[in-house]
Order: sequence, then structure tokens, then C-alpha cells
Amino acid sequence: MAKETLTIKDNRTEQEYEVPIWEDTIPAMELRQIKVNEGDFGMMSFDPGFKNTATTESTITLVDGANGILRYRGYPIDQLCEKSDSFESAYLIQYGELPTKEEYDKWVGDLKARASLPENFKAFFKAFEKDGHPMGKFIASVAALGTFNPTGSDIENVANRVEHVQRLFASAPTLAAYSYRNSQDLPYVEPDPELSYAGNFLKMMFADKDGNYELNPALEEALDILFILHMDHEQNCGTNAMRSIGSSHVDPYSAMAGAAAALYGPLHGGANEAVLRMLTKIGDVSNIPAFLEGVKAGKEKLMGFGHRVYKNYDPRARIIKSHADEVFKIAGANPLLDIALELEKIALNEDYFAKRKLYPNVDFYSGMIYQALGIPRAMFTVMFAIPRSIGWLAQWQELLNDPLQKIARPRQVYLGEGERSYKEIEQR
Ligand code: SDX
Repeated sequence: MAKETLTIKDNRTEQEYEVPIWEDTIPAMELRQIKVNEGDFGMMSFDPGFKNTATTESTITLVDGANGILRYRGYPIDQLCEKSDSFESAYLIQYGELPTKEEYDKWVGDLKARASLPENFKAFFKAFEKDGHPMGKFIASVAALGTFNPTGSDIENVANRVEHVQRLFASAPTLAAYSYRNSQDLPYVEPDPELSYAGNFLKMMFADKDGNYELNPALEEALDILFILHMDHEQNCGTNAMRSIGSSHVDPYSAMAGAAAALYGPLHGGANEAVLRMLTKIGDVSNIPAFLEGVKAGKEKLMGFGHRVYKNYDPRARIIKSHADEVFKIAGANPLLDIALELEKIALNEDYFAKRKLYPNVDFYSGMIYQALGIPRAMFTVMFAIPRSIGWLAQWQELLNDPLQKIARPRQVYLGEGERSYKEIEQR
């Protein structure tokens, strides 16, 4: 029986080391025994951007990049989009199993009881510039919500943790909608406990000044699917931020504000907004060849394309694309869709993209559906953050329950100056 070990030979010393293999990884700390001199610190791995480093074990989400597979707790994402809803999928991500009817009703009741914001929190949004970016407002309001919930810092208390997980997932749509209503000088609309997670959000966003709103079930269903698709994605940049910040044992509101800040970047969740800017700039299918020449020349990126893990079509992009037509039938065709479809068709036949295994990712088509739902472009990343809150929070709890986890504190390779003495300014 072959041994589950790696034998490493250090040719500098002719010394051999036997290192255990676990789940096709080696414990990085095992490298520290590899030294030239006894007093050496020992060897480390070097991996900018964690391109080949697992930072945790997890049971929440599987992303199989080679085969374009995404599963939450083992359930394929396409089945959840077809059969589940945002509340139920959030329960699955939180607890690891699909709920019984009784568990579902209690979960939904607990969430709806925590969807409203404290009365004087509403004044908070008035402090913002009306046209300030909604992600900046979302990040700030998540952290501010923590100041209204001081028991959030009692992270050792599991029941208390779940209370704040529910409050954050339940009130994320409310924070987003209130921020939008304030920017439009519209009165706030209280969460409606009769509606679904997606339906309640649409009503809080678009109800008239008397709170009246006619929900279109097909658009509600499309948004519910988008929410499910965005809930978790294993150790992405935002989740890594959530875990890194959470590893200091800070409260979940502060950790989630940091995760949302990471998501805001155009290389991450900010890409959905950047895709619409890109498509608008291209303006017409006739301009696609020239645009792609610029991309291949490295002058710009094809936003919504490429992924660190998916080296195949992002299954979420496929599902979103399949629902786009239904939405546009109701909300009206989006001229940018033709550009996006043609851009995808041409790009997927270009060697530059094929060689680099660059395919459409979750952000390539999602913005067009948000636009069709009437969501302002600047809010697209907020639309990503709302459902991703349950993924961040489930990963945060997994971190706290993992005995192997410690405060995140990576090492470095120092290549700076050696010791030198201070010089007075006159001598510089
Ligand atoms: C999300 O990690 C997750 O799971 C994230 C996410 C989630 O659910 O949390 O899936 C959400 O963030 C999706 C990604 C959204 N971002 C974008 O669409 C922005 C455009 N994409 C790229 O910036 C890029 O593809 C990344 C950031 C997504 C991935 O970057 P990597 O893995 O670090 O890859 P890389 O930058 O090293 O690229 C490898 C090569 C390079 O070319 P060479 O240097 O080898 O010549 O591919 C090129 C890159 O220049 N490349 C692109 C490109 N993406 C990569 N070239 C043009 N356009 C692109 N979009």
C-alpha cells in the first residue's frame, strides 16, 4: 500500500524529509523542518493571492472549476434554483440540511422578525451624499448596524451568533432598499412579512410613496434565483476577508462590512456593474472586434469573463443567461443583451480566451437582469452582497467552530533594506 507521504529532498543539504499528505495537501508547517542551518527559521510556501493554498477545510460549498459544478451542501445549484427559494437555500447554507416544514416556518418567522431597522437608524442614511455609491453606503450601514446590536460581540454564545446571523441576512435587503429610497427622496417602506425574500426587497425598493406595489411573480422568481445563485462560493475574496477579519473574534457586523468592502472591487463583485459600463462603451456589435483587440493587447479586461476557479463555463452564468429572456419578455428587451451574446460568441472562439480558459462568469449577464428589474447600475454589487451575506456568515461560523483555525497572520519574504542608522535631514 503506497504511503500517504511526500518525500522532499533538500539538494542543498542532501537531507530528506517525509511529509504527511492529507486530502491531497501537505501541512505547510511541515516545511519549517527544512533548514540549512539549525538556527534557521525553516522553509515556508510562497503563494501570492492564494493561487494554490487551502486556508481551511469546509463542508458548505463545492466549486469544481474544471467541470463547472457548484453545490451548496451537496445540492446542485440548478436544482436549488429550480425547486428552492432564498429562505430555504439560506437555511441549507446555515444549517447544512434542507429544513422540514416546521423548521422552514420557524426560520422564516425568525428572519421576518429581524428585517426591520431601528427607528433612529433611518436618520443614518440622511448623512450620505444622495449620489454617493450604494456599496459605500451598504458597507458603512452594515458596520453601523452592529453598534445597534452590541451583543454581536459575544461570539462564543452560539444561540446569540445565530440571532445576529438572522438579523444580518434579514436586514441586508432593508439596508439596501432604505439607502436607495433615501437617494430618491422617497419615504421608507417597512418590510412586508407577507412577501418572499425577493418580493419584500422589490416592494421596499419600488413601492410608491403610499407603499403600494404590484409584484410581478415572474420578476420576483427571477430575482429569487439570482439571490440563490449568489449566496456562497467557497473561499472567494470576500469570504476570505470575512474569515480573516472574523479570525480576530470581532463581531459579525464588522466582519461582514469588511467582506462587503472586498466584494466591492471591480475584480470581484464590482464586475457586474463594470460589465454594463463595458457593454455601454462598446455600444454596438460592430465595435466588438476592435474592443477585443484592445483586450488581447492587454489594454483592458473583458469584464464578466474569467475566474480563479472556473476554467469552464460558470454554471451560474448559464442559469442567469437562461432566465434573461423570460425577464426581458416582461421588462422589455435590453439592447445590451445582443452585444453581450455576440461578445460571448466571438470571445469563446478567440484563441486568447480559449488558451487562458476564460469563460463568462456570474457577473457577465446578471447586471442586465438587475437593469431590467429597474435596479440602478450603481446598486448591482449591493444586489450581490445581499444574498452573499448568508454565505459569509455561514463561513464565519464554520471558522469559529473549527479547532484548527487561529487568527489569520500570513508570513512574508522580506527583501527590503538591511539595518541602517537614522540620518538627520541636513545629511540626506
Ligand atoms: C467573482 O472567486 C470567486 O469565487 C469570485 C466569485 C464569487 O462568487 O465570489 O465567483 C465572483 O468575483 C467573479 C469574477 C468577477 N470579475 C470579473 O469578471 C473581472 C474580470 N476577470 C478578471 O479580472 C479575472 O479573470 C479574475 C480576477 C476573475 C481572476 O483572475 P486570476 O485568477 O488572478 O487570473 P489572472 O488575472 O492571473 O489571469 C490569467 C490570464 C492573464 O493573462 P496572462 O498574464 O496569462 O497573459 O488571463 C488574463 C490575464 O490577463 N485574463 C483576462 C481576464 N481575466 C484573466 N484577460 C482579459 N479579460 C479578463 N477578464
